[in-house]
Amino acid sequence: MLDKLTYAGREENFHDVASDERFRFVRGAIEDPDAVASTLDGGIDAIVNFAAETHVDRSIAEPDAFVRTHALGTYVLLEAARERELRYVQVSTDEVYGSIDVGTFTEDSALRPSSPYSATKTGADLLVQSYFHTYGLRATIVRGSNNYGPYQYPEKLIPLMVLNALHGDALPVYGDGMQVRNWIHCTDFAHAIGHVLAHGDPGEVYNAGGPDEQANIDVVRRIVTLTGASEDQIEHVSDRPGHDRRYSLSSDKVCALGWTPRVRFEDGLAETVAWYRDNAWWWEPIRSGEYRAYYERQYGRSLS
Ligand code: TYD
Repeated sequence: MLDKLTYAGREENFHDVASDERFRFVRGAIEDPDAVASTLDGGIDAIVNFAAETHVDRSIAEPDAFVRTHALGTYVLLEAARERELRYVQVSTDEVYGSIDVGTFTEDSALRPSSPYSATKTGADLLVQSYFHTYGLRATIVRGSNNYGPYQYPEKLIPLMVLNALHGDALPVYGDGMQVRNWIHCTDFAHAIGHVLAHGDPGEVYNAGGPDEQANIDVVRRIVTLTGASEDQIEHVSDRPGHDRRYSLSSDKVCALGWTPRVRFEDGLAETVAWYRDNAWWWEPIRSGEYRAYYERQYGRSLS
């Protein structure tokens, strides 16, 4: 595994696989060809590009890292795969399609990204497809919907709300909170990526969406109930600029390959809340570190 361990990456996130003899960790950036080359010596037959800057709010405030990681980083990995004739999987996002009020996106839907995050992810997808068409690289793309589960950095909706709820902090809902996301548990998404790596056809795109859609305000209300917090903590704050209203993915194509999402949102959310409640060792250093300053910049108030 090659990982730059930027603000959201930590060795604590892979402590449970670190001693596995099949696992090797190199600290470095995907946009650094030397780091990529040293990761690829010996016995590797595929590259799966999970590396991304993922947070839309940060892409609005500071887009440069998004261009570097998604455009340049993907290019460097594609070149490495081409030189060594490796298979390649690009981990992508439903956000490349933009927002959809009714219905659901298929792999043939138009690409209409709306934030610097999703625009740079879309550019990376197009570059991957060009390597299939131009050089015959055996590349596939998996587009996931909103992931949730343990070890997620608390800038994202669910861990942010869970930790704020547990601490008695305000729960900052953007705008009216009626934006809808199609939630997928991270284990289901990981299985989808593995499934496409094993069974996907080169040159193809596969959507992998979760089984449930939910308005943000309903997610937050469920978290209030699960944590025993108070509904009075919910606060409607200024909306995100250019906020996509709804994401929805049809996953028929990857389901036809034999994958199916197993974790229903209601169960996955309850498990996730329990994980954060039981694993203060994991989030305490985050909530007392860089994240506090980010939170103040983003929300104009301090955490308790
Ligand atoms: P997020 O977890 O940032 O994922 P994405 O932007 O990729 O969908 O946000 C999920 C939804 O929650 C999105 O509609 C924005 C909203 N949201 C809030 O209302 N308040 C918050 O503090 C955050 C972080 C997100």
